[in-house]
Amino acid sequence: MRRIKIRGGNSLEGEVTVSGSKNSALPILAATILTSGTNTITNIPDLLDVKTMIRVLRALGVIAEYQEPNSVRVSVNHSVRRVAPYDLVTKMRASFFVIGPILAKMGLAKVPLPGGCAIGSRPVDIHIKGLKALGAEVTQEHGFIIMKADRLKGSRVYMDFPSVGATETIMMAATLAEGETLIENAAKEPEIVDLANYLIKAGAQISGVGTEEIKIQGVSQLKAIEYRIIPDRIEAGTLMIASAITGGEVVVHGAVREHVDSTINKLREANSIVKIEGGSIRVKGGKTKAVNIKTLPYPGFPTDMQPQFTALLSLGQGTSVINETVFENRFMHVHELRRMGAEISLEGRTAIISGVKALEGAPVKSRDLRAGAALILAGLAAEGESLVEDIDGHIERGYEFLDKKLCALGANIEEVSNISAVYEEDNLK
Ligand code: UD1
Repeated sequence: MRRIKIRGGNSLEGEVTVSGSKNSALPILAATILTSGTNTITNIPDLLDVKTMIRVLRALGVIAEYQEPNSVRVSVNHSVRRVAPYDLVTKMRASFFVIGPILAKMGLAKVPLPGGCAIGSRPVDIHIKGLKALGAEVTQEHGFIIMKADRLKGSRVYMDFPSVGATETIMMAATLAEGETLIENAAKEPEIVDLANYLIKAGAQISGVGTEEIKIQGVSQLKAIEYRIIPDRIEAGTLMIASAITGGEVVVHGAVREHVDSTINKLREANSIVKIEGGSIRVKGGKTKAVNIKTLPYPGFPTDMQPQFTALLSLGQGTSVINETVFENRFMHVHELRRMGAEISLEGRTAIISGVKALEGAPVKSRDLRAGAALILAGLAAEGESLVEDIDGHIERGYEFLDKKLCALGANIEEVSNISAVYEEDNLK
């Protein structure tokens, strides 16, 4: 388990470039299964979750190899194995993405149910309902979902909730279905647009992406292509908050501005100065003010930025209210932030934050990816030292070199191998 020690108090200054999007890379790697030939996917972030997806592809008989740290070559045959490996799918929920492509290509897919995860029960019922609507015969046996359909048939699919993953699953499967599919109440996240752009370049016929209605006209095959992943909007937002929370001045390069609009708006409301300079975003931290936030599907405020804003608003003047509408259990960072002196009360899906003048460094545990990022941000602003545990278990699943990028901006972060050396000795003094 990797731990890092953060000595808080440094204002971050300088320039930083955003990596490729994790949430685009994962479904696009899964979508390569639909193609035949050799794909080259570039701007792939070097992350544990991406490596897990590459291992899933290999287990299915796909040849997936890094050419460079951020470029992966994926060679796919006319057929792939139809059973996804239990250990990998249960380790990373996004591995479930392979179900649509395997089914559409092979006529049968057997994929383990992903199980619960740290931020809520996260079922896959909307994915399954969508694939059923396309004609899949679905059974469940010994923890695996088995889907069969000689050829999927285009259909109207209404989604009860605009689930990102389910929109991606149905869109991927529908590309090789017979006839037209209409996804209603589809998710509109930029990562869905990116996946659609990959599929369109590969030969799929898709229109309406980025709106609530996506239309897919099935084709008989997709070709392998070269494709560049979009920048990671959540990493961009996290780096912007790193500047705001430390009262620093950081220029974030490479982000797509429209993708981070809601984050920019809330940062401005919270009293940071945000300037758009060509393709870059300059964030200058001010004395943070309280703001209210409600997480929503895109283009609403992203749930993946909620923990980081909770950290920022812990130091805001006044009382902020955060309403988490996307996931039912996404406040685990709150318990750890309280250990750093934050005053936050929880009522169901609402966090009420009474801003404090200062946070104090403490040993804390990251319990999921974005919660871990929030703790690092809090540690950057806190007085004294914080020790953030389980960096590799969570934070490195989704952030490429976050500690290194922050250090290059002036953060004081170092890796710690022996926890007792830091705390137990001090406590005896
Ligand atoms: C994706 C993102 C994740 C982000 C989330 C919401 C990836 C790899 N992950 O996750 O970072 O936090 O979107 O923006 O892209 N739900 C159901 N049934 C389903 C599917 C979802 O009830 O079949 C519920 C979930 O439990 C959750 C909500 O819908 O409460 C949103 O989930 P969804 O949009 O599907 O998120 P993911 O695709 O899992």
